[in-house]
Amino acid sequence: MSTDLPDVSGISLGILGGTGDQGKGLARRFAIAGHTVLIGSRSEERAREAAESLAGLAGTVRGADNATVAAEADVVIVAVPWDGHRATLESVRAELDGKIVIDCVNPLGFDKQGPYALPVEEGSAAQQAAAVLTGSRVVGAFHHVSAVLLLDPEVEEVDLDVLVLGDDREATDTVQALAGRIAGVRGVYGGRLRNAGQVEALTANLISINRRYKAHAGFRVTDV
Ligand SMILES: NC(=O)c1ccc[n+]([C@@H]2O[C@H](COP(=O)([O-])OP(=O)(O)OC[C@H]3O[C@@H](n4cnc5c(N)ncnc54)[C@H](OP(=O)(O)O)[C@@H]3O)[C@@H](O)[C@H]2O)c1
Repeated sequence: MSTDLPDVSGISLGILGGTGDQGKGLARRFAIAGHTVLIGSRSEERAREAAESLAGLAGTVRGADNATVAAEADVVIVAVPWDGHRATLESVRAELDGKIVIDCVNPLGFDKQGPYALPVEEGSAAQQAAAVLTGSRVVGAFHHVSAVLLLDPEVEEVDLDVLVLGDDREATDTVQALAGRIAGVRGVYGGRLRNAGQVEALTANLISINRRYKAHAGFRVTDV
């Protein structure tokens, strides 16, 4: 695979909903890689507590409300649950203008038969983000990474490829490079944003695999 990706080592990352397992896990890994990370929350206090729990890593971790994080970070990751997705993005639309926004949200339902993909009017969570954030450069990524592994101090390398989807080559290259800042992870371009729906939906299969085999499985793309 071409390794001609930009140097992203100086990029600061903001995480909306960064107090949850996924956001905190990504924050932890990016801070280990030396990035400044801003953890966002609806509550400044919860954000500060989450940031304090990640003190002592190579990069600085700070907490603030979602709007402040959206305004101050170079690149912003959306890690809120699907049911808060649209409203969260609408509330920080102005702050995210012009920025790369990484959406890792999986619209899933759960019933007695397990996880399943929910229908999304726009096609996918990432496309909904693009529809709301018309001034931002929306990229889909980190859908399949296990928060449990991201948070586990005994896991030095996270063994998976992160599929990166988007319509802006410079933005997808940047996010591929950011994915590669997590030890063990490789960012692989996965197509235009209109192909994000099946990547998000595939998480239902991944969760089924994890439940059957009691694993934290990830996908690898061969021959690239
Ligand atoms: N967990 C995983 O392994 C994993 C893997 C890949 C992708 N994802 C995706 O990442 C996202 C976050 O997952 P998670 O497990 O970390 O979820 P979570 O813990 O349920 O939620 C993350 C944070 O979002 C905020 N939040 C909750 N409800 C909200 C609402 N209605 N509006 C705005 N903010 C709200 C909360 O922070 P405050 O209360 O502090 O605001 C919460 O700590 C999900 O969309 C999921 O599909 C998760």
